[in-house]
This record gives sequence, C-alpha cells and structure tokens, in this order.
Amino acid sequence: MSFVILAFISVLIKCPIMALPTCLPLESKALYVPSLTSLAETLNEGLKSNFAEVSVEVVECPDLTQEPFTLASKGLGGNPKIIELGGNPYLLPLVHKEKVYDLKNIAKLVGSDPAFIIGAGAGPNPYIGVNCEGIYNLNISNGTVNQLSRISKIDKNDDKSEQITLPNTETRAALMANLLITEGKPGPVIKVHVKRRIGEDNFITTIRKAIEKKYQDKNVGMGGVFVLKEGKAKQHVMRDFSKTPIENEEQLNNWLKFYNMSAPLIAVGTLVNADMDLDLRVQHFHSFSHHGEAGHYHYDTTPETAEYLGYFTLGENIYRIDRPINTHSWGRD
Ligand SMILES: *[C@@H]1O[C@H](CO)[C@@H](O)[C@H](O)[C@H]1NC(C)=O
Ligand SMILES: *[C@@H]1O[C@H](CO)[C@@H](O)[C@H](O)[C@H]1NC(C)=O
Ligand SMILES: *[C@@H]1O[C@H](CO)[C@@H](O)[C@H](O)[C@H]1NC(C)=O
Ligand SMILES: [Zn+2]
Repeated sequence: MSFVILAFISVLIKCPIMALPTCLPLESKALYVPSLTSLAETLNEGLKSNFAEVSVEVVECPDLTQEPFTLASKGLGGNPKIIELGGNPYLLPLVHKEKVYDLKNIAKLVGSDPAFIIGAGAGPNPYIGVNCEGIYNLNISNGTVNQLSRISKIDKNDDKSEQITLPNTETRAALMANLLITEGKPGPVIKVHVKRRIGEDNFITTIRKAIEKKYQDKNVGMGGVFVLKEGKAKQHVMRDFSKTPIENEEQLNNWLKFYNMSAPLIAVGTLVNADMDLDLRVQHFHSFSHHGEAGHYHYDTTPETAEYLGYFTLGENIYRIDRPINTHSWGRD
C-alpha cells in the first residue's frame, strides 16, 4: 500500500467533507514482520537480562475485553497498523493548541473500519478544559463508537490525579499519540509474562532493546497491552499547559507531576526499533486502572514484586501523520 493510494484516500475522503483537521500530512512505510516464533525466541532470550522469570510464547489472543485487560475489542488481529500522530514539538517548548485530531478521521485516513484503537497520547483538552493524558481504548465500526478511553488530569489543588472515562461522543486526541489500530479480531499474538525485575530497564525498554538487537537493519513496530499485576509504577500526569516556555528536561520534569501508582495498571501503546527517518517516538505506553489512577508509564518502583503480563502484535505498516516540521528530540522518555 503506497503513499500515493493513501494520499488519494486522504484527498478523496478527508479534505472535502470535514472542515476539522483539513488535509493532514501523511507518510507511510511497510514494516518488516518477523515470524512470531522468531520474535518469541528473541524475547525469551533478551528479557532474561532484566527479569528473573521470563516466559514468552505465541498464543491465540485471549478475549481482551475480559479482566484483567478490559479493552474495547476482543483481539489484536486484522490489519495491524502502527500510528504516530503529531509529536512532542507540539507541546514543548510551548503548546500548539490548534493540534486536535478526531480519531474517527484518523481511522478513515489509514483506511481502518472496523477500527480498534489503543495507545498513548495527550488527551482532548478542549473536552475537559485542561491539558491531560489520553489512554486510548475504543472501537469504531461503520461510524458507531464504543469509547472506553480514559483521560487523566491533575485536580484543582495540584495534588491527586483524576481519571475520567470519555463518552462515545468524544473521540478526539491532542498534540501527539502513539496508536495501534487493528480490526479487533482474534488471531495469534505474542504473550509476554515476566516476574521480578533484576535490571535497570523498564518492561517495554527491555523488549525494545531485544528487538533492536535482533532486527538491526529492519523496521519493526509492535503494539499491544500489558498489565502490571503486582507492585507500583512511576507514572506522570501532565499539568495544564505552561505559560512560559519549557526549554529542557529539568524544566519538563518540574512541570510534569510524578506519582507512584498501584497495580493493577493496564497499559496500552506502541514501540518501534528505529526512527525509520520518520522522527518517531520509539516507545510510549499509558496505563489506566479500575481504582482511579492513570498516567504515562515510566517504570515499576518495586522490582522484587513486579509482575507483567502482556499481549502484543506486530504492525504491518507504519503511518506518520502530521509530523512536526520544526522538531527536536528531547522530552520523549
Ligand atoms: C466494540 O466495542 C464493544 C464494546 O466493548 C464490543 O461489544 C464490540 O464487539 C466491539 N466491536 C468490535 C468491532 O470490536
Ligand atoms: C452503516 O451505517 C449506515 C448509516 O448509518 C447504514 O445505512 C448501513 O446499513 C450500515 N452498514 C452496515 C454494514 O452496518
Ligand atoms: C515513589 O517511590 C520511591 C521509592 O519507593 C520514592 O523514592 C519516591 O519518592 C516516590 N515518589 C513519589 C512521587 O511519591
Ligand atoms: Zn505519554
């Protein structure tokens, strides 16, 4: 599927009908898709450096609408696409408030219907009135939306984080997002189950590094869901937009609010093994919960008791949408 066809679809469907984010620039590339067996071997070996107990297998996707995952659709099967929308340069040093995207349009733009969308991004600030995290988990089928996405924001006292589930009528994201879009169907997936962290890297970094090492000269992208079953995780929630420019990591870390959030946390997002000349964020996961905590995943703070269970699929294509022209590479942790 080439850029030409997609550009054509974009011209045909998006621009004339919707006044919203008019003609979003779109680039796409085919990804290398290793066999799941090869990937399982790679991860079984690679994750041992960081976790005491490691088990990675190829399995039929369990019903992800059930506990502990509670996602909008059952499986990760059907035309898996990795999407990166916007980027950090629309937030830093100063916000570009006009960067608001409707995920219904994004699904149309990449030609997904039904579209099961999961991932991490900035939440729809126009909906809630302040900047927020977006934890995306929804499906759209023939225009009908089933929205289970959450946003997380900081309360009025600059104290606790507050998680809110979005209604079916609110399908926007802002500034940036890293998404996996599939048809939500059954099919084979990679199951990753690890316990007791013995190294420094977080769960996703460990997976990404193993993939980087094995498939060095290829472009690989993966998305999915994991649950931190035991322990706690360091997560951040963004404060409302800064009125003064945020110029470096130190200022960024003072602006973000960090929390130790408790398991079970259900995280969704994507990772890629390379920049692919698309100015990509190499990994990005946000988690929600059923006890009110939600945010951007950094790492668990409880290595002894940490236990992760995840299901992932490989993307067949990557779509880079509305890539920032004036870019920078910091603040992507
Ligand atoms: C969409 O979400 C609803 C609610 O979770 C679910 O019942 C339905 O099967 C999903 N549809 C698709 C196409 O995945
Ligand atoms: C899709 O939606 C349209 C309009 O809402 C309806 O007319 C059509 O029958 C639907 N198609 C399917 C396959 O459900
Ligand atoms: C989180 O826990 C760690 C280690 O237990 C502690 O050092 C840190 O101060 C805590 N952070 C917050 C924001 O509570
Ligand atoms: Zn984030």
